Amino acid sequence: MSTNLTWHETSINKEDYRSKNNHSSGVIWLTGLSGSGKSTIANIINQKLYQKGLQTYVLDGDNVRHGLNKDLGFGDKDRQENIRRIGEVAKLFADSGTIVLASFISPFRSDREQIRSNLEENDFIEVFVSCPLEECEKRDPKGIYKKVRKGEIPSFTGIDSPYEEPLNSEIVVHTDQESEEASADRIIELLQQKSWI
Ligand code: ADX
Repeated sequence: MSTNLTWHETSINKEDYRSKNNHSSGVIWLTGLSGSGKSTIANIINQKLYQKGLQTYVLDGDNVRHGLNKDLGFGDKDRQENIRRIGEVAKLFADSGTIVLASFISPFRSDREQIRSNLEENDFIEVFVSCPLEECEKRDPKGIYKKVRKGEIPSFTGIDSPYEEPLNSEIVVHTDQESEEASADRIIELLQQKSWI
């Protein structure tokens, strides 16, 4: 922890940004296996909210690992640091009045709970994007499972690295049972129920 630092309150705060935008803000955290549909669903929600004129942004694992987190790998410690940084970035976006769609495998329950506890109670929605490993592997949209089976990618989530399913997520979407569009619509309904939008 750094010392000799002072937190500066800004005169425009989260509530001001929210009233300007005319909607609430917060973090929609999509967790699930690679290939479960997280990014697709995040993208559909983003498009739909954008079309309604809302202030939104997508943070996505593959993209963030090209920049901010390009120094991190896939060992447990690096994944933990990956999620910690994204949690902080997502919080900044939420503070700026933005609805953030964060799409990360985020395999460890404790890391996700840490992000929840770093935000105000109504500012975090955990979405479990549930899909059996066999189905994710069959889809293999990036051809990555093929590489894993050839032994080219060690410590792959769901294969030889753990995935801890959420126990108390706000919503579970089963992408092997409903379309990604339907999942996105159910999440948007939840935003309405929670008066985010
Ligand atoms: S996390 O585990 O740290 O949350 P993150 O969501 O950022 O992962 O990145 C996951 C993406 O990185 C996957 O969709 C996949 O394309 C790629 N990837 C590369 N190596 C691995 C690996 N060993 N395990 C999981 N995903 C990997």
